[in-house]
Amino acid sequence: MNVLITGNSSGLGLGLTEALLDRDAIVWGLSRRGCPINSDGLRDRQHDLANLNTLPDALEGLLSDCLRLDLVVLNAGILGRIQPFSETHLADLEHLIRINVWANKLILDWLIEHQLPTTQVIAISSGAGHNLSYGWGAYALSKSMLNDMIQLYAHEMPDTHLTSFAPGLVDTDMQEYLCNEVDTDEYPSVQKLKDARGSNAMPDAKTAASNILDLMDELRKGDSGQFVDIRTL
Ligand SMILES: NC(=O)c1ccc[n+]([C@@H]2O[C@H](COP(=O)([O-])OP(=O)(O)OC[C@H]3O[C@@H](n4cnc5c(N)ncnc54)[C@H](OP(=O)(O)O)[C@@H]3O)[C@@H](O)[C@H]2O)c1
Repeated sequence: MNVLITGNSSGLGLGLTEALLDRDAIVWGLSRRGCPINSDGLRDRQHDLANLNTLPDALEGLLSDCLRLDLVVLNAGILGRIQPFSETHLADLEHLIRINVWANKLILDWLIEHQLPTTQVIAISSGAGHNLSYGWGAYALSKSMLNDMIQLYAHEMPDTHLTSFAPGLVDTDMQEYLCNEVDTDEYPSVQKLKDARGSNAMPDAKTAASNILDLMDELRKGDSGQFVDIRTL
């Protein structure tokens, strides 16, 4: 099984990489820091997804000898600050959307242009894109855009099954900021994350990754382009 994962240096992407290598997959990874795992099954490349101009070259270098992809996980993402949307600078919003949305567009465009046979694409989204809670502005908007974009690509990739997928709560660096630095009096929606931390409602990254991988076949039974939240399955 050949799998491309973005953002595999930490968190869910690292958990997915570990879980897939355990299942004897070949993992093709892309992140700034690089994946810390040493494995013959790993082909890894360091790249900043914010550098959209050089992203096609990075993909060319990474995937030059890849003949087909069974799974692509568009996982890399940033949260930005929890703050009023009206106080979010446009430059910060643009940067966040470049990573959470446009980099994923370029990856899908590259796959189409290079006619690399690809069975399934999972874009890691978030319930935040649906909830649109106070304070989650830039991140929520980026995930909402991602959901819509995946639906659009479903029309243009008829041989690939695409899902935008909310993985539920996962105990990663992203939760460090949310659970330790955000004032829940000002942003009450963050309280349920604090309550979930340390419980089964917020598994560690490798457990969450295994749960997600076990659902891949099930996801392909639904229509391509749909948004699916793991908590509704
Ligand atoms: N944790 C949760 O509860 C939760 C819930 C819903 C959705 N999600 C989504 O799950 C995905 C993974 O997040 P996580 O929780 O695992 O967070 P994380 O531990 O912060 O991991 C984020 C990953 O994205 C990569 N990344 C960020 N900016 C990048 C850039 N400019 N270029 C290349 N790679 C970049 C990081 O790699 P480098 O820093 O090495 O570049 C890292 O590997 C995200 O899309 C997030 O929105 C998470």
